[in-house]
Amino acid sequence: MLVLAHVSDIHIDGSERNTARAARVLDHVARLPVDAILLTGDLADHGAVEEYEIVRGLLPTGVPLALCPGNHDVRENFRKALVTSSENGPGTGGPVGEPVGEPVDGPVGGPVNQVLRLPGATVALCDSSVPGRHDGLLDDETLDWLDHVLSAAPEVPAFVAMHHPPVTLGIPYVDEIRLGEPERLAGVLARHPQVVAVLAGHAHTGAATTFAGLPLLVAPGVVNTLLAPVETDAYPPIDPDLPPAVALHVFDGGRITTHFRPVI
Ligand SMILES: [Fe+2]
Repeated sequence: MLVLAHVSDIHIDGSERNTARAARVLDHVARLPVDAILLTGDLADHGAVEEYEIVRGLLPTGVPLALCPGNHDVRENFRKALVTSSENGPGTGGPVGEPVGEPVDGPVGGPVNQVLRLPGATVALCDSSVPGRHDGLLDDETLDWLDHVLSAAPEVPAFVAMHHPPVTLGIPYVDEIRLGEPERLAGVLARHPQVVAVLAGHAHTGAATTFAGLPLLVAPGVVNTLLAPVETDAYPPIDPDLPPAVALHVFDGGRITTHFRPVI
């Protein structure tokens, strides 16, 4: 059995509140017997170097960990603070805290894509951020990279993660800034039947739907929770007081089951 702890949207901004919420969730999942921890973007609120230094200090060690940027992140600063260089030696190239399998060196402003090769699973984290914009897109380089990563291990079950969900979720506030050109992602996924599920963040609410015939599992927001239109007319529809939460994806080799867990 494989368990992935999926944390998203911690939005570190230097405030004690946001740091405390992120620390609570990351400490919680680090104590669970999970196989890996994934962070799907919006790690910093403004993309500032100082924010990433705080994030860096919060990342658990001793468990495989991988992360990708969101629309609030700034690639250059994200890469500098959170992604080690493959020039540092063998086994590096992943986020600080725990090495991952393949380096992610590239142009400083290019996409930050990472792959985690676990015993029995491949997890590909794609950079869906677009510098200066809040909506998302997987550019040619990222789609080619994903195709290559999945082609390299066709027999190993795979999970494909990114910040922006590729479908609407019934929340206009985030639906308007979802992943663009989702058919291009669907085209890559169709070539790789070992993909078990697509994982995303961005919506600040736990959600489960489908995309390209696969489960699409959206992690809750740590910083706050977005409410659906049926819950509020407020705009933005944010509830800052609901507790932070995490998604735990449990894969038994055939089926994925996701548990959404508040962390009080
Ligand atoms: Fe966010």
